[in-house]
Amino acid sequence: MKEWTREERYRELKSPEEIRDLHERISKSVYRQTYHVQPVTGLSSDPNGFALHKGVWHLCYQWCPWGAVHGLKYWYHVTSTDLIHWKNEGIGLAPDCYFDNRGTHSGSAISVGDDLYFFYTGNHRDEDWTRTPYTCAAVLGADGKPHKLEKPLFGPRDTHSEHQRDPKIVWVESKRKYFIFIGAQTADLKGCVLVYESAELLDGWTFAGQLKVPGFESFGGMWECPYIVNVSGTDVLIFSPQYIKLPGRGNSTNHNVYFLGKMDYDTLTFTPQGDYHYLDYGFDFYAAQGAANVGDPDKAILISWIGLPDNHYPTEEEDWEGTMTLPRELRVKDGRLVQTPIAGIESLRGLPDNGNLPAACELQVEAGEGDFELALFTKADGTGGLRLRYDSAKRLCTVDRTGMNKRFNEQVFEVLDMPLETPLKTLRIFIDRCSTEIFVNDGEETFTTRSYPTEGEFHYTVSDGAKLRLWTMKPSVRDDFVV
Ligand code: FRU
Repeated sequence: MKEWTREERYRELKSPEEIRDLHERISKSVYRQTYHVQPVTGLSSDPNGFALHKGVWHLCYQWCPWGAVHGLKYWYHVTSTDLIHWKNEGIGLAPDCYFDNRGTHSGSAISVGDDLYFFYTGNHRDEDWTRTPYTCAAVLGADGKPHKLEKPLFGPRDTHSEHQRDPKIVWVESKRKYFIFIGAQTADLKGCVLVYESAELLDGWTFAGQLKVPGFESFGGMWECPYIVNVSGTDVLIFSPQYIKLPGRGNSTNHNVYFLGKMDYDTLTFTPQGDYHYLDYGFDFYAAQGAANVGDPDKAILISWIGLPDNHYPTEEEDWEGTMTLPRELRVKDGRLVQTPIAGIESLRGLPDNGNLPAACELQVEAGEGDFELALFTKADGTGGLRLRYDSAKRLCTVDRTGMNKRFNEQVFEVLDMPLETPLKTLRIFIDRCSTEIFVNDGEETFTTRSYPTEGEFHYTVSDGAKLRLWTMKPSVRDDFVV
């Protein structure tokens, strides 16, 4: 694996020409995707600035142009009118001001009237590498690009550590105010959320307090990418806690969880109904962000990075890595969060296939009664691959990727359990070259993983008695070089 110096990781992109060859080279990779948003070059991580504005969906991702490495982060901008077909728009935000000199870090967007506003973290570092995170804003211009405000909206609290970032902007009708949630760490290194409020979007921001989440005052060391949304009258708090091992999550210390509960904006208290839940049981899922301006009180739209901080993936050798999930619809049904693939995705279905596993496809499976096994990416004799086993007595799915030729992050986890509330009935699975997303029982649980099949790993097996349908998927995201 390439060792990157700090100079290499934090090199500023002066001209698109510096990465044209890189794009040319990686676009030939067998793992480049066809219906998911992926980095134009280099590395993509968190989704940012996800909002519907005047009929267009805007999405950005954390982007490091040079290779598969976390370094100087840009926002790369893509747009869509249906959340299925996406177009590359070029750089959204570049780290070119003193207050974001070492990265335009994660954030969100909101559409108000004729304008689309972006809120992000300016990751400032001094010469001696001391970090000061600023909360900054930008507004979409007539040229279709975000334009930054000259000055940050506010700086960090000195009552907390340097980890204060990822502003999520929301309008709270009952208070007639905007709120910003910031992922943070207390002075004694506990994960938390800081809350700011203002009647105006680009002015008047004051610190409102630290969010209280009774029972979870000591849950990990940093809460990245917080997001609170009301769905069908229930509040949902989503965030990515770090620096903690959680049951059933191997050696990983990065997670994406949610609570259902009640948010009180008077006391800044989120009261959870019960324990936290994993937002996705898969190996690779992090920093999920909900879109603003969905226009339906009964659902939210969520998208996430298929990957984890600190982990490494096989396409790093090719100098690129990272991808987004499909957008998902989030609903609350019978007191539970349900996630389904974006409506209309079936419009990409091509032909039913000839018995092999195409590199980009959708599978639908009815599992039948009792125990069950589905193995994807097996060799011709049915061995190896990514195996999903269901133990009906324990009501437990186990996903095992040890059988794949290309193994990665072995020291973190390669086998994970996914307990089910109700017996396994259906699976809906989306494969796109290097990712696999599994929706169980119409979205009661999900399991997302990177998968890198090699030559010969394009077969599958399924238990007798199960019914399986499979379609190839047509491309919907062009791999255009726009920078
Ligand atoms: C999450 C994260 C954010 C930060 C961004 C930097 O993966 O660490 O907290 O803003 O990535 O790329």
